[in-house]
Amino acid sequence: MILVTGANGFIGRSLMAQLQRAGKEARVHHGRINNPLDLRPQLEDVNTVIHLAGAESRGRNRLLHHVDIEGTERLIEECQRAQVQRLIVPSRIGADHNSLHELLRTKGEVERLVQKSGIPYTILRSATLFGHGDLFTEIIASLAIWTWPIVWLPGGGNIVMQPLWVEDFARCLAASLDRPDLIGKTITLAGEEQLHYREIVRQLLIAANRTRLPLPIPLLILHPVSRLFFRWWWRPPITHYFVDRFFVPEVAEFDGVLRHFGFRPARLSHHIAYLRRSGLRWRLFRW
Ligand SMILES: NC(=O)c1ccc[n+]([C@@H]2O[C@H](COP(=O)([O-])OP(=O)(O)OC[C@H]3O[C@@H](n4cnc5c(N)ncnc54)[C@H](OP(=O)(O)O)[C@@H]3O)[C@@H](O)[C@H]2O)c1
Repeated sequence: MILVTGANGFIGRSLMAQLQRAGKEARVHHGRINNPLDLRPQLEDVNTVIHLAGAESRGRNRLLHHVDIEGTERLIEECQRAQVQRLIVPSRIGADHNSLHELLRTKGEVERLVQKSGIPYTILRSATLFGHGDLFTEIIASLAIWTWPIVWLPGGGNIVMQPLWVEDFARCLAASLDRPDLIGKTITLAGEEQLHYREIVRQLLIAANRTRLPLPIPLLILHPVSRLFFRWWWRPPITHYFVDRFFVPEVAEFDGVLRHFGFRPARLSHHIAYLRRSGLRWRLFRW
């Protein structure tokens, strides 16, 4: 039996569909990860936990610490009690407990907790994921709709990214279940294309069927502007973790997915047709 935490989230939805197609029995974790009384009964008969619960999308440091670090600590304690045999955990490229960036520091801390838990683990570090319902391509495209006739290019759009399709990442998570050789490993996965942010924006605008004039804006004003506009939102579409991505290139080897999982990840332009839908304008206000 597999337990999936955060199964209703962006990655979780893809993963659950893939597990179902593969005929694997998976239980959705209900309740709060920090509550042992929620966790304990749900871990009965579970031998693998895929731990996707996290507060990155909420953009608040206290919540990130509470859910990602303290929640993972609780989960590990309960997994140890229940003698869970395997923990599969997503992380981010650049995760480092000494990082200057809150999200990457937290992810580094989570990795450390998992690595010293004594439970056989696999950590899949990933680049930013794209797909229907993401907080990346959809936010960039819907922001461009609101800022007609321009589109902002922080730092001139020079930062390089290697976005990975969420379905490909979910496929790697699911495949890890049958890969004992990955136990004790931390693997880095990214798309095969290294794209400048301005090229990503160009592809997104084509997919969304919009024309906008690129307007470079200095990186220095990004944090103050995002704070000014989005700080008070319950679920901000643009968080300071999103903004941090313009300061740390998110690149890795081109062939991580092929080398570790034997298939080539999708190109960005092949899987963003979802941007050509009506209602994208309201994506910023989805929550
Ligand atoms: N998306 C990416 O590009 C990416 C890349 C690399 C790594 N990751 C990591 O992968 C994980 C999942 O990402 P995602 O994009 O799927 O995030 P997401 O869409 O925000 O989903 C997060 C999930 O965690 C659940 N959750 C939040 N707080 C919880 C709590 N206290 N107790 C139990 N469940 C809780 C949420 O449920 P509720 O909505 O009910 O709160 C939701 O189902 C995160 O740790 C993220 O940092 C994401």
